[in-house]
Amino acid sequence: MIVTVIGARPQFIKAAVVSKQFIANGIEERILHTGQHYDEQMSAVFWKELGIPPYELNLNVGSGSHAVQTAQMLIRIEEYLQVHKEKIKAVLVYGDTNSTLAAALAASKLGIKIIHIESGLRSFNREMPEEINRIMTDHLADVLFCPSSSSVEQLSREGIIKNVFDVGDVMYDALLQFSDITISNPPKEYNGHVLVTIHRPSNTDSPVNLRNIFSAIGGSSHQFVWPVHPRTAKILEEQQVQLPANLSLVKPFSYFEMLHVLKNCYKVMTDSGGLQKEAYWMKKPCITLRNDTEWTETLHNNWNVLTGPDTLKIKKALAEIIELSRWVPLYGDGSASQQISHILKKILY
Ligand code: UD1
Repeated sequence: MIVTVIGARPQFIKAAVVSKQFIANGIEERILHTGQHYDEQMSAVFWKELGIPPYELNLNVGSGSHAVQTAQMLIRIEEYLQVHKEKIKAVLVYGDTNSTLAAALAASKLGIKIIHIESGLRSFNREMPEEINRIMTDHLADVLFCPSSSSVEQLSREGIIKNVFDVGDVMYDALLQFSDITISNPPKEYNGHVLVTIHRPSNTDSPVNLRNIFSAIGGSSHQFVWPVHPRTAKILEEQQVQLPANLSLVKPFSYFEMLHVLKNCYKVMTDSGGLQKEAYWMKKPCITLRNDTEWTETLHNNWNVLTGPDTLKIKKALAEIIELSRWVPLYGDGSASQQISHILKKILY
């Protein structure tokens, strides 16, 4: 069997489409939830909505410093893997979170094969914990699924060439599969808004950066909607940050709600990795509140613009008009999960 370890919001979405293919191909899978994300709106909502197969165990690790969180995961993942070691063909991890790194480390020390989905991405910014998690996980992995040819080339530059597959991005599979689903209560009131998400510590933990971003929003004639990550919500409350009148704060959206708002928004403004791609696929211009991105292809033709928390750059990007004809497909054709499942069936079974 394959043991999938997931724990953070975007990983639930990725697992939903891959697990479906495993079932179709007769690959036995057990899912471990590390408990990294635990609020109803950050976790349970996704399992219910996306029909992810139930997890076998929730490690309930919760929040903590990076070391504490990763260490707790390591201990509990190892316990599980040791008990089931004989039956496990590989451990499957997604992306770049602390849950990804912990599972990869635990498996590697037990001599269990590691499958990494979303390999080869680099922002070249080692101040991001995710960059460390990506590099470490790629160098521990035995089978690596990349979303683009540039990520395959990056791995090759780092000496990783065996069992590397360019299959496209499973997030695109998810978007194609779920974007036309009709939901009973779509948040229509945000049609035409700029969709904002801010949760990177480089922005949330700097009052100056937050002020600069809010100043650009406040100076715009558009309406903005921001589904707020619980950590950011706490910071805004503690620091009693003054918010612009044209910015509506709402609780985190479910995936289906997010797709609805994305489909009907004017532009996206974010410091998330995944949302930059989702904006691109939905043909929405993206303003990225970071100075670097691991999704460099989205920068072509200015569909995605790196502004960092710079007020003037954000204002300029908000005003810019993008020509739709310059859009080219990126990160596969929506068959990544199918390809992954077929390749694993061949390699592992
Ligand atoms: C994590 C990932 C990040 C990813 C994001 C997706 C790492 C290093 N980062 O960031 O790459 O983009 O998930 O959403 O793994 N909290 C709650 N409730 C929750 C979860 C978190 O209140 O359900 C609060 C806690 O105060 C916690 C903080 O958010 O300490 C940070 O959570 P954590 O999971 O460590 O990182 P994220 O910022 O969510």
